[in-house]
Amino acid sequence: MSVVLSRPKRRRPQWQRLTVAAVDRLTDEAVGVSFAVPAESRGLFDFAAGQHLTLRRESPDGEELRRSYSICSTARLLREEGLLRVGIKQVPEGEFSGYANTGLNPGDEVEVLPPLGSFGGPNAERWRAGEVESRHYAGIVAGSGITPVLSIVTTALETEPESRVTLLFGNRASGTVMFVDELADLKDRFPDRFHLIHVLSREPQASRLLHGRLDPERLTEIFADLVPLDDVDDWYLCGPYGLVTGARQTLLDAGVASGHVHTELFFAEEVPPPPRPENAPQGDTELTVMLDGRSSTVTMGKDEAVLDAALRVRGELPYACKGGVCATCRARLVDGKVHMARNFALDEADLDAGYILTCQSRPETDNLTVDYDA
Ligand code: FES
Repeated sequence: MSVVLSRPKRRRPQWQRLTVAAVDRLTDEAVGVSFAVPAESRGLFDFAAGQHLTLRRESPDGEELRRSYSICSTARLLREEGLLRVGIKQVPEGEFSGYANTGLNPGDEVEVLPPLGSFGGPNAERWRAGEVESRHYAGIVAGSGITPVLSIVTTALETEPESRVTLLFGNRASGTVMFVDELADLKDRFPDRFHLIHVLSREPQASRLLHGRLDPERLTEIFADLVPLDDVDDWYLCGPYGLVTGARQTLLDAGVASGHVHTELFFAEEVPPPPRPENAPQGDTELTVMLDGRSSTVTMGKDEAVLDAALRVRGELPYACKGGVCATCRARLVDGKVHMARNFALDEADLDAGYILTCQSRPETDNLTVDYDA
């Protein structure tokens, strides 16, 4: 192992301690958690709609837990009231989500990384810059997938006085719908510009079309009857793997350009990682890690994830899901070649620019350099 110095580039996001301002129950299995952001840190936590926060805590048996949760509030709320809010749904065996739902209280402090992610795409960057257009946005979401889309929808409606939003929101039953009050408030504030369509799988609806899952067949019917595709400018899809991939393919098959379909996955557990190819290279690789303008080297096996090896020499490296979903572990591949097992987070532009998810990447060459500052 060795350490050499080089020139600093981008500042790595640093963990900050934020105080919990409120924990409010959204459903039997989900809470909204609001953090108070001190005035001097608001620039650091400024965000584009659709981004997420990474939270960290130590479990009772000493294991470090990191999880990413989407921001459901708006940058306006942060600027005006110093509040950032995330939605946390309790998942089976989810240590962090269980703690947030049962053990987190106002006044507690939590370690938080500043916002990351690019789900909101170019529109979110425009809203952040205060640039206004007149567009029709549509969301297809299920369950807790509403969380980042609530921020996107609210920001779009508040920022662009002539834009419209249509939201298809799938849930099991009305009692499991997150952010009911916030969505009702949006309908009251923007009755002519916000169209909310609930689709429930286990509760009868007045229309047959709105009773079931948001699968490709139902979506195709909804597009024909309720939401004409050529009337929508941009699509935001968020939720479990099956919903997001099915909805995306349905839109692409119907002729929607991929650049106008923005996706964010919440769970990738249902997609097992592909097995390592039988002819995958063997042996060791010399890995160089560039972070905070400093480079470190470590020897790793070719069957090991780049992130795991990099953490041995740079324990402060950013990561969260380790499942190829959140992109917190993103770095640029400067030298060498890797095989990336799964990628649910980087788009083609990222890949063309040489970015990889280091939690999913295994070396294919004897030397590898990854730059976390790029
Ligand atoms: S840590 Fe989430 S994609 Fe790698």
